[in-house]
Amino acid sequence: MPTRAALSHIPGPPLPPLVGHTLTIARDSYGTQQEYIRRYGPVYKTKMLGVWRVNLCGPDALEYVLLDQEKNFSSEGGWDALRKIYPGGLILQDFDKHRMNRRIMTAAFRASAIREYRARMEQTMNDLLLSWPRERPFDFYAAIKDLTLRMGGAVFMGLPLDGALAQKINRAIKNEIRASVTPIRHAIPFTPMWHGVRGRDFLRNTFRDLIAERRETGGNDFFSQMCVATDDDGHAWDEEQIVNQFNLLIMAAHDTTATSLTVMMSALGSHPEWQRRLVQEVADLGDVPLDEDALAKMTETDKVFREALRLVPPVPFIPRLALRDFHWQGFDIPAGTSLALNPGVTMLSPDLYTSPEGFDPDRFSPERAEDRSHRFAWTPFGGGAHKCIGMHFATMQVKLFVATLLRRNRVGLPYGAPEWQRMPIPKPKGGLPLVLRPATALRRAA
Ligand code: HEM
Repeated sequence: MPTRAALSHIPGPPLPPLVGHTLTIARDSYGTQQEYIRRYGPVYKTKMLGVWRVNLCGPDALEYVLLDQEKNFSSEGGWDALRKIYPGGLILQDFDKHRMNRRIMTAAFRASAIREYRARMEQTMNDLLLSWPRERPFDFYAAIKDLTLRMGGAVFMGLPLDGALAQKINRAIKNEIRASVTPIRHAIPFTPMWHGVRGRDFLRNTFRDLIAERRETGGNDFFSQMCVATDDDGHAWDEEQIVNQFNLLIMAAHDTTATSLTVMMSALGSHPEWQRRLVQEVADLGDVPLDEDALAKMTETDKVFREALRLVPPVPFIPRLALRDFHWQGFDIPAGTSLALNPGVTMLSPDLYTSPEGFDPDRFSPERAEDRSHRFAWTPFGGGAHKCIGMHFATMQVKLFVATLLRRNRVGLPYGAPEWQRMPIPKPKGGLPLVLRPATALRRAA
């Protein structure tokens, strides 16, 4: 890790004693970053949780580092904080090893497998949504996190919805996620990291116990698919690799989708004209199964999803570690430097988007296509070798949810739209109080 002296030529804000820039950035991470970019330019240094980090800002930096033509940048080193809970997951691998494992993982995401997951998800989502309250406020953020976790048990693992095992697994997953963002990185008893490590051990043992059975019986869930997945040359994973890869996959899939849906519901409640457009789009589908063809017609929903991801990306920072000295925008940056890329503030840049703070899904229409102003202008799913492998799955899940919900309900915000906390992971401050009203009652009243 380079010392402060090795980075002395990189500009940056004065260093507060003891805690460095941690508290300032934690308090208002976007505002602080935007201010630093204004003052110091797109390359500046900060010290967070005791580590000096060089921030490389803007779409050119995203393109340069994520495409990584010279193999200078390590995702494994960047995401090192996840190693204790998610050892051996795709995001913690680099270059040839990563490419080999990603090819095997791709088998679980092939179109026919996704079709099977969709059918399972449609039924499960219907059942779960029927149990949600109507005509009284509830916290949508908590409810959607619970729904995606419970659906995860069914779609990701092929477990019964409310079985005791599914519940234990969900608790362990929550503990792992909490541990992955806690600042105390040692497993001191009863701290989040301690609970996370126990959750990890429970999950790894549970997954390991299921492998033999799933290899024999197969199944149309992610886990079963990963047990039998091979690349084009017939390479498959051993037990340890299945356990590692699956453990990371469920984490990567869970909070991200729940956060996007929360942003979307908040936007539909605040922008009735957009809710009407989506209601109309869903009505135009008719009373058909929500299959691939039906979801492909949901282009307005797609725009709202894209805008939600632009305004509140679930992964607003992407870390990398420099493996070699490199030169960027006039600066020499030494090997061993921690780097932070910032898709979050990049997607709020007035150089790329008109009125970037506003909710305006039509900016994604073919006529305006603001996301095409730069190859890396819109990057909620990252880019390059580690680009989100679940992007199409997430889009399908979001459309399925929106159609299922709006077929029967309308969305209202009794207390208005929430403010968003951006770090360590984005969430609405105080949750998202929401009221669902039956669509038929509203039609009658109109
Ligand atoms: C709105 C939802 C989602 C968002 C915004 C999102 C975002 C991201 C981003 C930014 C990365 C790249 C990180 C990096 O380069 O360091 C990533 C990687 C990944 N995502 Fe997603 N994700 C979402 C949903 C999902 C889902 C549903 C799955 C699985 C079903 C998934 C599985 C993964 C995996 C396994 C990786 C690691 C890929 C690799 O390292 O090759 N994600 N995601």
